[in-house]
Amino acid sequence: MSSPYRHDLLQDQVAWITGGGSGIGEGIALQLAKHGAAVALTGRKEASLQRVATRIADEGGRASVHPADVRDPQGLEDVVSAITERWGRLDILINGAAGNFLCPAHSLSPNGFSSVIDIDLKGTFHACKAAFPALSERGGSIVNISATLQLTGTPLQVHAVSAKAGIDALTRTLAVEWGGAGIRINALAPGPIDGTPGMDKLAPGDMRDRVVRSIPLQRLGTVDDVALAVLFLVGPASAWTTGSFLVVDGGQWLSSGGLGAVFQ
Ligand code: COA
Repeated sequence: MSSPYRHDLLQDQVAWITGGGSGIGEGIALQLAKHGAAVALTGRKEASLQRVATRIADEGGRASVHPADVRDPQGLEDVVSAITERWGRLDILINGAAGNFLCPAHSLSPNGFSSVIDIDLKGTFHACKAAFPALSERGGSIVNISATLQLTGTPLQVHAVSAKAGIDALTRTLAVEWGGAGIRINALAPGPIDGTPGMDKLAPGDMRDRVVRSIPLQRLGTVDDVALAVLFLVGPASAWTTGSFLVVDGGQWLSSGGLGAVFQ
């Protein structure tokens, strides 16, 4: 894919991405690296991170691997220390780590609910807090990967909608609180993205065709659709954009709920 951005958009910058070992996070990591950033990859599985780092190096990019669980605040502070030691600075944080599954609310265990809140919402907070000292040295940018499912009533997802709604509120509040430190923070809400663990888990088998029919732009998204929107949010074109919620879903959530679903 040829990029609509300059190849040196993020030259000399350092980006940290959680959930960088697969899916959307992997795609974002590859595009950040292709546009000049050194990319520090965090996730639970070292082998997955190493595979992505090798892909980046094979394409001439720079990457480092920092395994950690976003549920461990001290572990994330240690990662930031390792990143600044390795690359000398930190400019960008992408909060991509997430967990989800389908489960009726009435049979969801307390620990099932907590696990998704701990990973998605609290993990996002822990990473933002760990990155704050390094990001505030020169100013920086955070992108929180949100979703659209919390914008409507989404059955079987009470854990994830609660977490993502919290992430949206956290994004708006930190945009206000950290603007004075030169840190921009925005949320990006991807729709159904082809070939990702999320899509395999949440829309398996014949649900795929139904999902495509629900999208006004008539196709699933690609990881590059999301990654190129991330480049906008971390690059100079959005220098005065903070606290925003950017939906990248082919129009899916607007058309799939409410009376629209009855008339289609
Ligand atoms: N239905 C109902 N409950 C489930 C579940 C499911 N499909 N999957 C996990 N849970 C529950 C477990 O039963 C457990 O609760 P319990 O102790 O009361 O039994 C709790 O969630 C934690 O599960 P566990 O597997 O121990 O946690 P984990 O920390 O290893 O995994 C998850 C966290 C559950 C979010 C896991 O799905 C995950 O790691 N996902 C990451 C990848 C992913 O989901 N990607 C898609 C993003 S859209």
